[in-house]
Amino acid sequence: MHTFTIGGDLEVRRLGFGAMRITGKGIWGPPEDPEGALRLLRRVVELGVNLIDTADSYGPEVSENLIAEALHPYPDGLVIATKGGLRRTGPGQWPRDARPERLKECCEGSLRRLRLDRIDLYQLHSPDPDVPYEDSVGALKELQDEGKIRHIGVSNVSVEQLEQARGIVEVVTVQNRYNLQERQSEDVLDECERAGDHGSAPGTARRSPQIGFIPWFPLAIGRLADSGGPLDRIASDHEATPAQIALAWLLARSPVMLPIPGTSSVEHLEENLAATRIQLSDDEVREIGSAAQG
Ligand SMILES: NC(=O)c1ccc[n+]([C@@H]2O[C@H](COP(=O)([O-])OP(=O)(O)OC[C@H]3O[C@@H](n4cnc5c(N)ncnc54)[C@H](OP(=O)(O)O)[C@@H]3O)[C@@H](O)[C@H]2O)c1
Repeated sequence: MHTFTIGGDLEVRRLGFGAMRITGKGIWGPPEDPEGALRLLRRVVELGVNLIDTADSYGPEVSENLIAEALHPYPDGLVIATKGGLRRTGPGQWPRDARPERLKECCEGSLRRLRLDRIDLYQLHSPDPDVPYEDSVGALKELQDEGKIRHIGVSNVSVEQLEQARGIVEVVTVQNRYNLQERQSEDVLDECERAGDHGSAPGTARRSPQIGFIPWFPLAIGRLADSGGPLDRIASDHEATPAQIALAWLLARSPVMLPIPGTSSVEHLEENLAATRIQLSDDEVREIGSAAQG
């Protein structure tokens, strides 16, 4: 599996695991089968995945607690990326709260639940319209200065917000909604690719690394796995499933792409990982891209 190096020093395989769906319905409360969720997480790591994405708000707290229960002490090289800045008020409800004091509370909670001294990748879950973005990003900078965060990522941002954040901290990843059919973040993806071309980071002798782009909803909540869609023919040419072609297309779309498909089933996990072995031709990449938009 190809790799990407986050922040210049965390090498991860390019297909990660999204741990949002190991909770109860509405991403609320414990899963129906907690033992099954623990087994799934252990299988994720056994299969060589070393990027797991979570957030304090998944459950809330449930996803992070399960990750620690299943995997702590963590194997070398496993990157757990978590996020803060949302509140949970009930199933399917996600009000934003990215006030600096709240973000610090979120980070402390994640450190405790994940049983870590430092979080490798901490992401600001979403800009909060009631809080100046620079104040939220500034809180993460303070956490980084205190040694509680290694690298900082942002999520659900525009190009302008990404640039604003990059003026305050080194942003190493962006996590936005993106899949074959939903490409509103194309400009943000382009900016992530370009980041590595800007030469040395201001005030340093070192080149700034490319920014990893983590597309959430990579399978459009499984919709892209349905047969009868535009991916069917190419899938059958590759003896693959439509879900695998949707993931292979993402991986082919950009070298900074780090999909984190979420699943609650070992079967789907294995299927998704097998997508990394599919080589699409340039023509197929173009054809899939335009068919899915058509
Ligand atoms: N930053 C943000 O604001 C944000 C928002 C949403 C999500 N995320 C992150 O992104 C990750 C992925 O997003 P997501 O879970 O919403 O969307 P997704 O990965 O596109 O879709 C997950 C859904 O697809 C199904 N699925 C997975 N693999 C499949 C396969 N091979 N065949 C058929 N169905 C399959 C799963 O059902 P089964 O359980 O039945 O496999 C699940 O319901 C999350 O886990 C989370 O870490 C971030």
